[in-house]
Amino acid sequence: MRPLRLGVNVDHIATVRQARGTAYPDPVAGALLAAANGADSITIHLREDRRHIQDHDLARLTPVCPVPINLEMAVTSAMVDIGVAAKPKYVCLVPERREERTTEGGLDVAGNLPVVSEACERLAAAGCIVALFIAADPIQLAAAKASGAPQLEIHTGHYADTTGAEQAAELARIAAFARDAEAMGFEVHAGHGLNVDNVGPIAAIPEIVELNIGHAIIARSLFIGLPAAIAEIRAAMAAARPTA
Ligand code: PXP
Repeated sequence: MRPLRLGVNVDHIATVRQARGTAYPDPVAGALLAAANGADSITIHLREDRRHIQDHDLARLTPVCPVPINLEMAVTSAMVDIGVAAKPKYVCLVPERREERTTEGGLDVAGNLPVVSEACERLAAAGCIVALFIAADPIQLAAAKASGAPQLEIHTGHYADTTGAEQAAELARIAAFARDAEAMGFEVHAGHGLNVDNVGPIAAIPEIVELNIGHAIIARSLFIGLPAAIAEIRAAMAAARPTA
């Protein structure tokens, strides 16, 4: 089995900071701690409403982060300008507004192909490797191919929010989608809503080479600390995927 990388999303360290307008807890310090304790990359989402990560977090993290930065952003020219200037190794384009989303919550690439393609082109020209965050939907897969993005992140939110037969059906859909996406030449990632209890079946899908996990790791770290929370999720990944 191929190795499975873990990207740790530190947005919600900033959520706690922003709740009080303090300088702590610092997501940059959290990113450095995560990188020293098993994170293969650091994911941050600079939202248009700046509800958690701020521009200065990206500016402070960029020169010191010892692992690649994966910058999540909306598909707007202002956000793409920021990505082009900051040049993170990875950019993941995500939906923020309702009209940019498919029913499952991923980016509606098919409905916004010209603007998504232009963003991919500008970010690639700046040296960023671009992923599209999409639902496991064949219509979005075909559009993603046309956009020129080399990577896809499968939205696992519906999988995480369901149980029983509905969850099993979504898992099967994700597994088939990952196979098709890899066959089309994409590098395949997954994320959203994953935790120690539900990560196993996703980690077992062999075409998926990276998981991006945030909320559950940061929440768990309140009780056991960030290094132990990362170790716990890595152990759950490794149990499902022995090379992880
Ligand atoms: N991947 C992407 C593209 C995301 O937008 C998010 C959440 O913002 C995540 C992964 C992480 O999701 P969670 O915080 O639920 O683990």
